[in-house]
Amino acid sequence: RVLILDFGSQVTQLIARRVRETGVYCEIHPFSVSAEAIAAYAPKAVILSGSPASVTDENAPSAPQAVFDLGVPVLGICYGQQTMCQQLGGNVSGSDHREFGRAFIEITSSCALFDGLWAVGSREQVWMSHGDRVTAIPPGFRVVAVSDGAPFAAIADDDRRLYGVQFHPEVVHTPHGAQLLANFVHGVAGLKGDWTMAAFKQQAIAKIRAQVGSGKVICGLSGGVDSSVAAVLIHEAIGDQLTCIFVDTGLMRAGEADEVVTLFRDHYNIPLIHRNASDLFLGKLAGVTDPEQKRKIIGGLFIDVFDEESHKIGGAEFLAQGTLYPDVIESVSFTGGPSVTIKSHHNVGGLPDRMKLKLVEPLRELFKDEVRALGRELGLPQSFIGRHPFPGPGLAIRIPGEITPEKLDILRKADTVYLEEIRNAGLYDAIWQAFAVLLPVRTVGVMGDGRTYDHVLALRAVTSTDGMTADWYHFPHEFLARVSNRIVNEVRGVNRVVYDITSKPPGTIEWE
Ligand code: XMP
Repeated sequence: RVLILDFGSQVTQLIARRVRETGVYCEIHPFSVSAEAIAAYAPKAVILSGSPASVTDENAPSAPQAVFDLGVPVLGICYGQQTMCQQLGGNVSGSDHREFGRAFIEITSSCALFDGLWAVGSREQVWMSHGDRVTAIPPGFRVVAVSDGAPFAAIADDDRRLYGVQFHPEVVHTPHGAQLLANFVHGVAGLKGDWTMAAFKQQAIAKIRAQVGSGKVICGLSGGVDSSVAAVLIHEAIGDQLTCIFVDTGLMRAGEADEVVTLFRDHYNIPLIHRNASDLFLGKLAGVTDPEQKRKIIGGLFIDVFDEESHKIGGAEFLAQGTLYPDVIESVSFTGGPSVTIKSHHNVGGLPDRMKLKLVEPLRELFKDEVRALGRELGLPQSFIGRHPFPGPGLAIRIPGEITPEKLDILRKADTVYLEEIRNAGLYDAIWQAFAVLLPVRTVGVMGDGRTYDHVLALRAVTSTDGMTADWYHFPHEFLARVSNRIVNEVRGVNRVVYDITSKPPGTIEWE
């Protein structure tokens, strides 16, 4: 396995994704990780990430010496290359020839990183993002590629198997970057690509059995991919020692609650408690208009209801959660300052403390796309695995202002039409999230000979890779025309449709 030391780069997770795509397991740890922890992890290769920091700063972060003493291959990327040079006797300085974005390197010497990829003398496109640069390489190193802004664009010490690149092979803008990383893990480090989802599944099942023994596990199902995959995996491991609890908030989309019940109870035969709590949720939400207040009420009620149902089961020792790797990685930040709360996302956070249960988190090591692959391995239908994300507070945050059963009904109908058209047009998988928002605004319209005074419906569709940033989706105009027409004709209560063309930032994906 590979150890990735994070120095706070925005794209460290991409390094991990690329390494795992080669079939080799890796973990991200902060650069400040202890020598003991490194020894315990026993990596077969180490990658040092980039960083917003500058090696020339007084308190610049550096790699633990242990990394260079292990005798395993090390690859430094950008800042990782610079700190490696600095620490091993080379030199780095600020440069007025900064390189940001697309750049070209010239391969000046053969190197194991370039095997089967780049020939000596060729010019290759890469992605750079650096102000500082290496100005002298440590003893034992040689230069293998240069660029206009970086005379040491790639360096190698073949004996010690230490390598450094000034560019970022992990981003897609370095077209052959993924293969360069594969050369490092397979070629240089000699690691086999045997970390597959089939192998992961077997290991995970063994781990769950070892942790749980004959204990009882409860799992909250939300209808989303993560909790579903976790539940099916755990059920494969321990069968009916698992009970799932599905709290139906009455805030899901049309038909969704039934789908969850059918899939888990009837198809997988997983013991499932379906608690229809919509009256409770809608009652407590009556008259509430503030988005944060809505989230608090929903989050709090969810915990109450879940707690109540789990007590009815009795004797549960473990709580299963679909926690993913990005939630687990200890983040390294040099920007400082507390971050502002934009939205207080409710998931099942808060449950474990209150319930005094031990956590079973079989997906802790996986990225989202790996969870999907595992879901496929477990036989979950593609329609389920490929679903767009859906927020915990559900349709409540897609009805700005007060939530009423009538508004929910209108929104469900309109949302169904919208998603149906997206699927028919074959666009569903190209979109990260698409949904309708029912606005608390009425406008005048004319239908037939009559005047109407009905709600405005906003359509939203975005592309994104992680939900952190997003771009609005450019639908063909005919598509928008068709959806608008269908909704106004078919959904009573809506007489006007608008399309949201705001990216994130400055907008957020949801309207509340
Ligand atoms: P925003 O609206 O913050 O959304 O740009 C980013 C992603 O998070 C989802 N989202 C939520 N998920 N509880 C959730 O579980 C919430 O309160 C919540 N608010 C937003 C949103 O759907 C998008 O995928």
